[in-house]
Amino acid sequence: MLHRGRRLRATPVLREMLRETRLSAADMIMLYFVEETDDKAYRRPIDSMPGQFRYSIDELEKAVARDVDKGLRSCMLFGIPSAKDAAGSGAYAENGIVQQALRRLRVKFPSLYLITDVCLCEYTDHGHCGLVTSEGEVQNDASVQLLARTALSHVQAGADMVAPSDMMDGRVLAIRENLDKNGFVNSPIMSYAVKYASAFYGPFREAAGSAPQFGDRKTYQMDPANRREALREAAADTEEGADILMVKPAGCYLDIIRDLRQSCTLPLAAYQVSGEYAIIKAAGRMGWIDETAVLLESLIGIKRAGAELILSYFTSELLHRGLVS
Ligand code: PBG
Repeated sequence: MLHRGRRLRATPVLREMLRETRLSAADMIMLYFVEETDDKAYRRPIDSMPGQFRYSIDELEKAVARDVDKGLRSCMLFGIPSAKDAAGSGAYAENGIVQQALRRLRVKFPSLYLITDVCLCEYTDHGHCGLVTSEGEVQNDASVQLLARTALSHVQAGADMVAPSDMMDGRVLAIRENLDKNGFVNSPIMSYAVKYASAFYGPFREAAGSAPQFGDRKTYQMDPANRREALREAAADTEEGADILMVKPAGCYLDIIRDLRQSCTLPLAAYQVSGEYAIIKAAGRMGWIDETAVLLESLIGIKRAGAELILSYFTSELLHRGLVS
């Protein structure tokens, strides 16, 4: 019988040379939580996300400095305001926590690519991603105006790119128009175009204190059972002027990443969310899995599916342990 080389006749060196998918530090975006507090030394661990913290601006700066030193190229910020209100005014306040953090990081780390999550849910007392009526209904269009205002305030404070995560209809266009009108024609938008209503966001909501106080996000986030809907969302955001499309969560949605990679030409990002991080960390701590191997396999799977960029809470650890370069 002839052997036609289905099996790679390769030494480890050749196997490495022929590897189809690679993780690189240039693909990875770290995520940080910054909290408004008078305590400059504030650094509070997030219980359900071992190794992740809520930082004061000073502590954030130190953490970022350590990561940049190890090769961090880009990060995204989430803000936790000291007070919340019905209109989420902390999201677009000139001196909001994210705006302050941006001004600091912009000066200290001129070449770090700064991205911000644009949403109201961390700033509203009801925890929804937009304004709600007295009947508890989310008001799409009024919310979009505030999101556009938030995005502009981030760019003015030094953000390189904004990433709207709210899932209101029409927000990418509104943000684009507002940025253009104010002279920020070169600031790109990474749209959370395909964001599922996922239970994997649980630890994040604990971390950011942003769980909805009533109802859920199913009226504006997508049903995990839907695949074609992802194509419609992606097409709409492309039409509205998104520069990069994001799929979130990542691990359970590799088919969606692949679908989008085949059906559209914009760069794609995938967000390995808090619950995905928590699961790997927890099983690793219990000694039930080889944590490092599982985490690398999960990330390579996301890249192989077709994502060019990965947002992951593991980014900083990967850099510090020399697992990516
Ligand atoms: C804000 C936002 C959320 C996440 C990112 N941006 C929470 C949500 O939609 O409930 C979740 C990220 C994670 O779980 O790591 N809307």
